[in-house]
Amino acid sequence: MFLSKASLLILLRILTAAVHSKADVPLPPKPEPIDIIELPLPPVSDGSDGSCTTEIDPLGTGCILRHGGLIQSGSFLPDGKHVIASVNYTGAPDPESIYTGGQLILIKSDGTTFPSGSPFKCITCGIPQDNAVGRADILDYPQAFRDGKRILSGTSIIDCGKFDLSSDECVPESTYIYPIRWNTAVDGSGEGGVIRELRLHPDNMHIGFNSFTYTSGRLGQNGYVGRLQFNPSPTTGLPLAPRYDLVNVNILVADGTRNKTLVIEGNQIRVDPNAIVVGEFRGFSGSGKEATYIGYPRESSNIDVFAVDLTTGAVRRLTSHPEYCDPIDISADDEWIAIMDTRGTNRQMFMAGMRNIPPITDLVSSTAASSTRNNGGRRFFRPYLLDKYGDRGDYYGQLINAAGDGSPGSINDPQWNGRADPRFSFDTTQLVYWEALTVAPACGGNNPLPCPNSTEPGGRTERVMVAHFTSRKPVPLTDVEPLNDTIPWATPYEPGYVPMLYVPGGEYVMHGAVAGSAQITIVTDAERLIVESVAVKYDNFSDDGLTFLDGTENVTTHNPTPTLNEVDWYSNLVQTGQTNATKVTSPDGFHLSIDAMTNIFNANGTLSTMINGTLYTQPANGT
Ligand SMILES: *[C@@H]1O[C@H](CO)[C@@H](O)[C@H](O)[C@H]1NC(C)=O
Ligand SMILES: *[C@@H]1O[C@H](CO)[C@@H](O)[C@H](O)[C@H]1NC(C)=O
Ligand SMILES: *[C@@H]1O[C@H](CO)[C@@H](O)[C@H](O)[C@H]1NC(C)=O
Ligand SMILES: *[C@@H]1O[C@H](CO)[C@@H](O)[C@H](O)[C@H]1NC(C)=O
Ligand SMILES: *[C@@H]1O[C@H](CO)[C@@H](O)[C@H](O)[C@H]1NC(C)=O
Ligand SMILES: *[C@@H]1O[C@H](CO)[C@@H](O)[C@H](O)[C@H]1NC(C)=O
Ligand SMILES: *[C@@H]1O[C@H](CO)[C@@H](O)[C@H](O)[C@H]1NC(C)=O
Ligand SMILES: *[C@@H]1O[C@H](CO)[C@@H](O)[C@H](O)[C@H]1NC(C)=O
Ligand SMILES: *[C@@H]1O[C@H](CO)[C@@H](O)[C@H](O)[C@H]1NC(C)=O
Repeated sequence: MFLSKASLLILLRILTAAVHSKADVPLPPKPEPIDIIELPLPPVSDGSDGSCTTEIDPLGTGCILRHGGLIQSGSFLPDGKHVIASVNYTGAPDPESIYTGGQLILIKSDGTTFPSGSPFKCITCGIPQDNAVGRADILDYPQAFRDGKRILSGTSIIDCGKFDLSSDECVPESTYIYPIRWNTAVDGSGEGGVIRELRLHPDNMHIGFNSFTYTSGRLGQNGYVGRLQFNPSPTTGLPLAPRYDLVNVNILVADGTRNKTLVIEGNQIRVDPNAIVVGEFRGFSGSGKEATYIGYPRESSNIDVFAVDLTTGAVRRLTSHPEYCDPIDISADDEWIAIMDTRGTNRQMFMAGMRNIPPITDLVSSTAASSTRNNGGRRFFRPYLLDKYGDRGDYYGQLINAAGDGSPGSINDPQWNGRADPRFSFDTTQLVYWEALTVAPACGGNNPLPCPNSTEPGGRTERVMVAHFTSRKPVPLTDVEPLNDTIPWATPYEPGYVPMLYVPGGEYVMHGAVAGSAQITIVTDAERLIVESVAVKYDNFSDDGLTFLDGTENVTTHNPTPTLNEVDWYSNLVQTGQTNATKVTSPDGFHLSIDAMTNIFNANGTLSTMINGTLYTQPANGT
């Protein structure tokens, strides 16, 4: 057999690539033993005056709402014996009590109690007003600093000075709440930009966050990373009180060579797997070297989590299962990933089940593909454990809450839905996550699903669970290298910056890496700022030589309001080869109207996917 020099080189490259990837990415781990316990939560009352009686709350440490009483569980404290949670108090038997409204509490997670006899300690209750000027209502995503003395939550830093938060010395009078301000005004005035979903970098000096953008009436968002700088006496901007200013803010938008997944070159479009396109920032790895984010899809309608190295810009796709993934935590030693994912529920398979479709219609369909994951307040998330390399081959991780018989209130009761975020203990031996019970209108009334009765004390509709990885040894916490203020591939933020992601309309072609092609039509709005419609015709398109794609697909999206997506979708796709699959809409198309803030499924027409003879259909309206 004669091989040209070029073929030999290619062969060599394939062989070394195979050897290299085998050496780099080991076989997936075997499932490990997991014990799950439920943490206590304060007693519930209905919130009316006097409803938190001594009978319900004998210790007088406060009642929370039956529904919405637990707003969110957060991280462990560094000792691994306390979990921080955000709760909504209804009061206590003493009408003058400090247990009212949204507060942060510590929950003992080792079965012990505080000196009060209660497993709870409120951290933010009763803080003198002078210690908390500019206090914000929202205390979501509570995360402990490594010193055990401070918490990042909402847009605030809660600081107990020299005292451990769990110690008796940490009292309301010694606790301060400092707001975090992001200056977005050229003259430095005002309250600053709206920042959401803050995550603490493990160097405890930087944070990441998201902020919304609006382009031509369509909602978008960018991720950011900046440094916290304490400002004891600010002279500009609000509040004029001790606060943290965000400095050296980077926008997680890559430089020109890597800022788009779909790269346009003349009349050709190709997919750049190394592009950094942060749809939503989600957090940092344990060492803080990487940021995690929901990225522009790599495969059509398949929403995944990615990690990007904050220095080199190297991108890793952590999940690839067709179902929807979003909340994620990486253990402090970087070895483990915990996610909340709809995998295994078949929620998204009607839309995302067909693999290896290039992410082209996603220019207009990815918001809809994200929004169909919930039914309003009902998430379809379940917690999964993955090793540091993430999904690969047929490894899609270990279901963490697999124990139980599925009965009401059991560990794997499908009516208890996972919520954001799961968090590892700092020593990686535990994971805390929380769940919410399906409630009306996601059940009951016109909904075919009867509402489940809560089996929790007082009929509570949220619960906090801790998974113990019983075969693991605690991993000591190591020092973290401080993040460089400059993220070389990102965009430095300047007040007044207006983000712009411009994709020109026109006719394009994408060639399959192995065979075939796709003819693409992109239509923008009149101002040519946003894409409104994408149509694709596939002809024996194949990137891997294993599956081949034929047929047509087009999606058009209008936004009557920034968050409301009206989507007209036509698919007639056939995949052959290693997998036989179809993705088809009814002849009159699939028409979805969905608000990205409420996520209530409302469609006419059908979209369905058949994979190797298994049919996946869309949820019924309102379910
Ligand atoms: C607590 O519940 C009350 C009553 O439902 C509500 O008005 C308030 O917004 C809630 N607070 C938080 C922080 O969720
Ligand atoms: C992406 O890079 C190109 C080329 O440098 C530039 O024209 C475009 O504005 C960039 N987009 C964003 C959002 O930065
Ligand atoms: C919930 O409890 C009510 C009252 O006991 C009962 O009628 C209903 O059938 C229960 N629902 C379910 C789903 O078991
Ligand atoms: C931080 O970034 C700056 C600018 O890119 C660079 O000059 C410097 O060497 C970096 N420092 C470290 C410690 O990586
Ligand atoms: C599709 O491409 C493959 C690989 O090049 C080729 O073997 C096959 O004949 C093509 N099929 C059609 C229908 O063109
Ligand atoms: C989408 O496809 C359908 C069915 O083939 C067709 O009727 C419609 O005109 C197409 N719409 C666009 C915007 O390409
Ligand atoms: C796909 O369909 C072809 C033609 O019907 C059949 O020969 C082949 O066995 C099918 N492959 C799979 C994986 O089902
Ligand atoms: C379809 O079946 C074939 C043959 O069993 C298998 O190799 C392939 O992985 C299946 N595809 C999917 C998406 O399950
Ligand atoms: C189908 O849904 C679209 C988009 O929500 C809507 O404009 C249209 O009126 C609906 N048609 C019918 C027959 O319900």
